[in-house]
Amino acid sequence: MESFLQGLPKAELHVHIEGTLEPEFMFELAARNGATTKHGTVAELRAAYKFTQLQDFLDIYHQGAAVLRTHQDFHDLTIAYLERAAADGVRHAEIFFDAQTHTDRGVAMGAVVEGLVEACNEAEERWGMSSELIMCFLRHLSQDQAMVALDQAMPFREHLLGFGLASSEVGHPPSKFVDVFARARAEEFRLVAHAGEEGPPSYIREALDLLGAERIDHGIRAMEDPDLVARLRDEAIPLTVCPLSNLKLGVVPEISAHPLLGMIDEGLVATINSDDPAYFGGYVAANYVAVQQGLGIERDTMVALAKTSIDSSFASASRKAALLAEIDLYVAGHESRPMG
Ligand code: HPA
Ligand code: ZN
Repeated sequence: MESFLQGLPKAELHVHIEGTLEPEFMFELAARNGATTKHGTVAELRAAYKFTQLQDFLDIYHQGAAVLRTHQDFHDLTIAYLERAAADGVRHAEIFFDAQTHTDRGVAMGAVVEGLVEACNEAEERWGMSSELIMCFLRHLSQDQAMVALDQAMPFREHLLGFGLASSEVGHPPSKFVDVFARARAEEFRLVAHAGEEGPPSYIREALDLLGAERIDHGIRAMEDPDLVARLRDEAIPLTVCPLSNLKLGVVPEISAHPLLGMIDEGLVATINSDDPAYFGGYVAANYVAVQQGLGIERDTMVALAKTSIDSSFASASRKAALLAEIDLYVAGHESRPMG
C-alpha cells in the first residue's frame, strides 16, 4: 500500500516552499552566504523541531528562511522540493511562498520569484510536472505591508497564479486583509487563505465572504460548526488538509483522532498535503500513508482523495482531464497485483 500511495498521481495544493528547507541544506546555504545559524549542528536544529502550537513553529521557520538570499538559493530550494514531489507522484503543484519574509531582509522580489520560476520550468522539462506559484501575505504584519508586497509583485504577475494568507492565525482574522484581497481579486488573481487551522470557524466564513477565497487552507475547525460544514459542502469549497502538520502543531492529539474521514463523510472536498514537510516529518506521500494507516482508510478512498486533489487545483480543464486519466491508468495497472 505504501508504494501504491507514493506512486499514485496527485496534486499538491498546500506546501510552503520555505517549509521544504531541510536542515542539511540550511547549513549549506548558511555557509554559502556567510550567514550564521542559531543552532550549531543539524542534530541540534532537528532537536529544536518540537512544537506545541503554530507560533513555536513559525518562530523557527522564519529564522530558518533567513539563510535564503540569492536567486540561486531560491532555485536550488525549489528544485529540491520538486524532485522529492515528483518521486511522491506529484504531477501538479501549487506552491506557496512568503515574499515578505525575504524582501524585509533586503532580498529583491525578482530574486525570489525568478529563482522559483526557473525551477518550476525545469520540473516541467524533467518530469512533465506542472507547477504554479501563490504568494502568501503574512497576516502577523499589517495590511499596508501586504499592499506594498502586492505592488512589488506586480512586475512579476505573469509568473503568479494568485495570493494566499499565512502565518500567525489567531488574532489576525481575514477581515484585516479585505482591501488587499479586493485589489488582488480586481487583478483577476486566484485567491486562497489559511483559515480554521488554529483559528475559529468564523475565520473560515470571513475568508469566503470578505476575501473571496476559492479554497481554504487547513479548514479542519469547520467541523465544530454544522452550518459551516453544510455550506462548505453545498458550495464545494476545497479544503487543503495537512495531517502531519496538524499532528506536529498539536491541532490533533494523534493521527487516529484526525477529522479527515469525518470530513469526507460529511461530503466536504478534502485534499491531503504536506504544508512544511522539512519541519513536520514527511512529504506528501508520507501524509497519504499516515492517514491511510492511522485512520484505516480503504484504497478506493485514497484514490478518490488523489482525484479530489486534481479536481481542486487551479489547473486547466484539459490538464485536469489528463491527470485524472493518469490516475485511472495507474489504478488499472495495479488492479491485478496484490496490494503492496
Ligand atoms: N499555518 C500558517 N502559516 C504557515 C503555515 C501554517 O501551517 N506554514 C507556513 N506558514
Ligand atoms: Zn500552510
